[in-house]
Amino acid sequence: MAGLGSVLPSGLVAPKLLSWLTGLGAGMVFLSLMQKLLYPYFWNDLWYLLKVVRCGFQLEMYKLKGELVTVLDKFLTQAKKQPQKPFIIYEGAIYTYQDVDRRSNSVAHVFLNHSTLKRGDTVALLMSNEPDFIHTWFGLAKLGCVVAFINSNIRSASLLHCIRSCEPRALVVGADLLGIIQEILPSLPEDLSIWGMNDSVPQGIISLKQKLSTVSDSQVPRGYHVTSNLQAPYLYIFTSGTTGLPKPAVITQLQALKSSAGLWAFGCTSNDVIYITLPLYHSAGSLLGIGGCVELGATCVLKKKFSASQFWNDCKKYNVTVFQYIGELCRYLCKQPKREGEKDHRVRLAVGNGLRSDVWREFLDRFGNIKMCELYGATEGNICFMNHTGKIGSVGRANFFHKLFFTFALIKYDFQKDEPIRNEQGWCSHVKKGEPGLLISRVNAKNPFFGYAGNKKHTEKKLLCNVFKKGDVYLNTGDLMVQDQENFLYFWDRIGDTFRWKGENVATTEVAAVIGMLDFIQEANVYGVAVPDYEGKAGMASITLKPNKSLDLEKVYEQAVTFLPAYACPRFLRIQEKMEMTGTFKLQKFQLVEEGFSPLKISDPLYFMDNLKKSYILLTKEIYDQIISGEIRL
Ligand SMILES: *[C@@H]1O[C@H](CO)[C@@H](O)[C@H](O)[C@H]1NC(C)=O
Ligand SMILES: *[C@@H]1O[C@H](CO)[C@@H](O)[C@H](O)[C@H]1NC(C)=O
Ligand SMILES: *[C@@H]1O[C@H](CO)[C@@H](O)[C@H](O)[C@H]1NC(C)=O
Ligand SMILES: *[C@@H]1O[C@H](CO)[C@@H](O)[C@H](O)[C@H]1NC(C)=O
Repeated sequence: MAGLGSVLPSGLVAPKLLSWLTGLGAGMVFLSLMQKLLYPYFWNDLWYLLKVVRCGFQLEMYKLKGELVTVLDKFLTQAKKQPQKPFIIYEGAIYTYQDVDRRSNSVAHVFLNHSTLKRGDTVALLMSNEPDFIHTWFGLAKLGCVVAFINSNIRSASLLHCIRSCEPRALVVGADLLGIIQEILPSLPEDLSIWGMNDSVPQGIISLKQKLSTVSDSQVPRGYHVTSNLQAPYLYIFTSGTTGLPKPAVITQLQALKSSAGLWAFGCTSNDVIYITLPLYHSAGSLLGIGGCVELGATCVLKKKFSASQFWNDCKKYNVTVFQYIGELCRYLCKQPKREGEKDHRVRLAVGNGLRSDVWREFLDRFGNIKMCELYGATEGNICFMNHTGKIGSVGRANFFHKLFFTFALIKYDFQKDEPIRNEQGWCSHVKKGEPGLLISRVNAKNPFFGYAGNKKHTEKKLLCNVFKKGDVYLNTGDLMVQDQENFLYFWDRIGDTFRWKGENVATTEVAAVIGMLDFIQEANVYGVAVPDYEGKAGMASITLKPNKSLDLEKVYEQAVTFLPAYACPRFLRIQEKMEMTGTFKLQKFQLVEEGFSPLKISDPLYFMDNLKKSYILLTKEIYDQIISGEIRL
């Protein structure tokens, strides 16, 4: 999911800035003559740059004064300045800045009084979108703990993997998720203390809710969380990276600060009411959304889950002015039956990513003039683009200013081998304008990459070394992009072991491992296939059977829905006689992805996931046509 990983440069210093601006002033007259001709987006670019600089400047000033201000500090300041201002509105209830401050103090006091947690310890948080998510997060931050957000859709083995991989000392679980934790309770590490946000909790779990009513809500001494290092870990947020299982990306205080400036950079103010329906365990909802509200001192209308039918009612009811989106969300809204007065709302701006041009246009036609602010950035990434010029379809523009801060490149990629192309000397090369290339971004002191918690191997895998010259290091974003003649950037596709579906990244190795556990399956090769009118790719598992074993479609279905979140279940199965390998002994995917899921083109047996029949059924031409025409929804 997108986070504003690095919208702001961290290495700006005031003198550098001054000499810069003077230089700019002198060149301005000449430039204004030239710009209309050569640089039609000059003013957009410059305006954007100045905002970025102002933010970087603020950070530098704080540093010079020797006081480090974190997002939590900013929240405490807001709570003091405007205690009665609504911070969170959830299911009609209002939680003011003061309420959230006090309740999070209580959370901190519970752990101070009833646990041995100390600064720097990791606590895993498994909760749906609700105010207690924020209370727990802020409360633990007040103790200097690092909070790891766990995806609330995952189950069993994947859940265990995620919890274990960040080595937490405690786990806090929302009331509605206690059941899924109970299932894996015996497999959790014994020294992990588990806290449930419910009055009554299963055995082996401590009731955090009960303890909350017994402790004070007084201010937690600043000494517990004050930090002398903005590069210290603040959160872990899981991402699928480019390869392998989900990994906890390290979010530093600095990254959180930069992301929290995102809404502000797009022009939001403290008077805005921001509607968040995206899950808080992703960086978009938490860092950009909640962090952004804190930065502005604005109000957030939090929704447990996105609902297309309630969306506009909520917007009207709460006077929402800004919402966060992913491409799918806008598409669902467009698919809703038309109603009277659809333009009758106060939403003026939306921030998100993955909106396709056709949906973008349709959305604006139907729901009125809403500024759609596209941004691109990976949670763990060190680069980010914003559509500061508003070109439909584009994630942003690589301008001259941008290049001063972030060195990125689009390099040639071999789809068959699934790796960057290197010439005889071993160097990578740039693609031409208009051709898709792999987006890589330079890693250095100004644009560091903090990697993943735990296994160092994962961090190293994400890096490309000796790209254009000896010793250079780039971050592999795993995204293919195209840059047009005017330097606008467009998202093209994802490479590697992940694909996106319903706004989530699906780790193909994880799905393959789950399917591969069945005793009649020899090998499973999982990838995503494009389906017309859907964002992302629908999952497909190509499998080979063990000798003398037969395929049990119901078992495959049961295995998938039991162990995988809904978005990761393969929609299609393809049965192959044997698997093709690439030159580097990876399973060949490129060809399979290209072939898609059409029974007219593929002679192998194909099956389709049928949730009514609770099985996979033969994918006939009729079913295929119904999927293409939209009669069957995926
Ligand atoms: C949460 O608490 C309520 C009553 O306080 C109880 O009915 C419910 O079963 C509890 N939920 C779980 C998952 O234990
Ligand atoms: C929305 O705005 C209207 C008009 O300014 C106001 O009367 C109403 O109370 C507001 N609603 C909320 C929930 O703030
Ligand atoms: C992003 O694009 C939209 C086009 O709908 C534009 O209105 C908006 O101003 C752009 N974003 C920014 C930050 O300018
Ligand atoms: C599969 O079945 C055939 C005939 O029934 C037999 O000859 C063969 O050994 C079996 N193969 C395996 C691997 O069990």
